[in-house]
Amino acid sequence: MTIRLIKSSFFNERKTKEKLCNFIMDSEKLSIGNYCAQFEKKYANWQERKYCISFNSGSSANLALIQAMINMGKLKKGDKVGFSSLSWATNVMPIIQLGLDASPVDVELDTLNISLNTFKKSVEENNIKCLFITNLLGFCDNIDEIEKYCNENNILLLEDNCESMGTVYKGKKLGNYSLASTFSTFVGHHMSTIEGGMVCTDNRDLYIMLNMVRAHGWDRNLSPDIQSELREKYNIDKAFYSKYTFYTLGYNLRPNEITGFLGCEQVQYLDKIVEKRVDNFKKFVNAVNSNEDFYNLKYTHIEKLSNFAVPVICKSKEILERYIDIFTKNGIEIRPIVGGDLTQQLFWKNIYGENNSHTNAKLIHEQGFYFGNSPEYTKEEINLIIESLK
Ligand SMILES: Cc1ncc(COP(=O)(O)O)c(C=O)c1O
Repeated sequence: MTIRLIKSSFFNERKTKEKLCNFIMDSEKLSIGNYCAQFEKKYANWQERKYCISFNSGSSANLALIQAMINMGKLKKGDKVGFSSLSWATNVMPIIQLGLDASPVDVELDTLNISLNTFKKSVEENNIKCLFITNLLGFCDNIDEIEKYCNENNILLLEDNCESMGTVYKGKKLGNYSLASTFSTFVGHHMSTIEGGMVCTDNRDLYIMLNMVRAHGWDRNLSPDIQSELREKYNIDKAFYSKYTFYTLGYNLRPNEITGFLGCEQVQYLDKIVEKRVDNFKKFVNAVNSNEDFYNLKYTHIEKLSNFAVPVICKSKEILERYIDIFTKNGIEIRPIVGGDLTQQLFWKNIYGENNSHTNAKLIHEQGFYFGNSPEYTKEEINLIIESLK
């Protein structure tokens, strides 16, 4: 038996592929259009946010969100932006690329996430203007307290929720604790559109800005009402020129109708997908926490923990080697925990030099691994993973 990290391209793969083929054959237009707009409505509704703007990847969503913060004057060049040391490369890359000062914040060993404690330490050492927190692998620490602290101290909070779609903490979905949050629908994530990403927010001005940042800095994907509002504000009175008016700095990070169609299809299954992953996780975490070789994971403070892969942190590098052998022999694909400690990565060292501090993120980088959590695992597959964890 082989258990791959990504078991399938889509939930209900066969049916989804058949529908996709028909959709492509029957469609006149495949560039951004009604299906993207429909998916955005459906996802905003599911996420319980006012607005959703879709992108061609989660990385693009991150880039657009940071660019939007700069365009709106909420961040300016040189501002210090905190990020989770343990995250994905394209979480911190836009911060660096757009001329902000990236400031790593350590995570807790038992939740793998930034806590108020680790964040406060960073704030004391640095003059942090914004925290772009990652909700790692379905987990969070006390993000409600981080939100309160940020509000009280005038720190802008943004969430990278690319790994935690569907997690519920203290009655609220992760991704709803901040001004805006990003999501990924890359294959293997909670729901797949092959490639894709979103930003969700309740803020109308940000929604408008993100639409422009996504497509060339123009207003063409906005509603006629919003277009009129903008054109009046900026005295663009000729319809002829309005087509090619570029209001602000932007990119081309648009999704296409295939992404939109797949989003509409897969979002129907999202509750089911999340429930399955939540159930699987409970089984896996029991096995992790009953083995003395691993550090315990703290999760009972989270009502619904929804992840696509499960982290395991070994108590030594030798133990990690042993489990790499066991999992490999059993045909179970494992990988390092996300991007690991990003300050240990070459791109970081090339800019900021060596970082020899002993952080939890570094320990997790050196002694951790993860395996998949697919909603379509069979009983046999789940049992083999649990056996391997023993
Ligand atoms: C925390 C985090 N942010 C951003 C991304 C980027 O998403 P994408 O692969 O859709 O570009 C990922 C991808 O896995 C991620 O884990």
